[in-house]
Amino acid sequence: MVKEKLEEIRQKAMASIEEAKDQESLNDVRVKVFGKKGEFTKVQKGMKDVAPEDRPKVGAMINEARAAIEERMNEAREKMQQRALDERLKRETIDVTLPAKKNKIGHRHPNTITLEEVEKIFIGMGFDVVEGPEIEKDYYNFTALNIPKGHPTRDEQDTFYINDNILLRTQTSPVQVRQMEAKKPPIRMIAPGRVFRSDEVDATHSPSFHQIEGMVIDKGITFADLKGTLEMFVHKLFGDDVKVKFRPHHFPFTEPSAEMDVSCFKCGGKGCRFCKGEGWIEILGCGMVHPKVLEMSGIDPNVYSGFAFGVGLERIALLKYEIDDMRLLYENDIRFLQQF
Ligand code: DAH
Repeated sequence: MVKEKLEEIRQKAMASIEEAKDQESLNDVRVKVFGKKGEFTKVQKGMKDVAPEDRPKVGAMINEARAAIEERMNEAREKMQQRALDERLKRETIDVTLPAKKNKIGHRHPNTITLEEVEKIFIGMGFDVVEGPEIEKDYYNFTALNIPKGHPTRDEQDTFYINDNILLRTQTSPVQVRQMEAKKPPIRMIAPGRVFRSDEVDATHSPSFHQIEGMVIDKGITFADLKGTLEMFVHKLFGDDVKVKFRPHHFPFTEPSAEMDVSCFKCGGKGCRFCKGEGWIEILGCGMVHPKVLEMSGIDPNVYSGFAFGVGLERIALLKYEIDDMRLLYENDIRFLQQF
């Protein structure tokens, strides 16, 4: 009786295993056979009705049948797993011959490229690169630069005042004063940075732009040092063929003062659209540091002398890259920036 029942269960189970399409239906078979109410379990439970002397034999039969069914189930499961794995591997194959996705890296702004070039030139001549605050005291921005309260120069620089004593610096020249107060000569420094003026935005103006200040203080510094240094600077920046010209000018913090022009590097000085027919392009302001400025900063003008200059970073970048509208430098349009 038991033997036949077992045989029947076994054959049915084997057939169901054969038919099972996936692991889920395989599991259904397991439950149906070996589950709490499974057919096989029922037979096992019937052991108690078997005569004691027959139990070992019947037990062995049950075990044998269970082992056979389980073995088939395991085989089926392994096959299914292998098939699933094969399918996944096929699905996930990587074509190593496809071109790789390129990492997009940004690049430096034309202002930054220009500044780094200027810094390199001056570092090569022994200058330090220093910084000063953008929110500055009226004293450093004006008074200590020989521009006392009421001086007309204050009106020319449309200033953002925070209060009576604090403002957004209109120039990088206050860094000169801070350096003279902080260091003993010899001083050789450039100070790049952002400056602010209450200007309307147009092709050549912006309320925020950049300057690079320069200053040398030592014993026996003359206008010849100024000329030699600044000529070297523009030769490195624009090429050895470029000529320089100094025009007398006035700045309150230098005496004498000058503006420096360079011969147009587009037309070589003949006059073109680029230099507006002039042949020359104005590039920076400079001069010998005023004795009063030295004195106010604690440096004895009878022992030391020096020269200073200030140049607009945007101005150089625009010239260097032949850009005719400063606004392009601030709009951060990627199509523009990518060209440099
Ligand atoms: N600070 C001046 C300006 O903003 C530029 C300048 C001129 C700086 C002459 C100097 C200098 O150090 O000597 O127009």
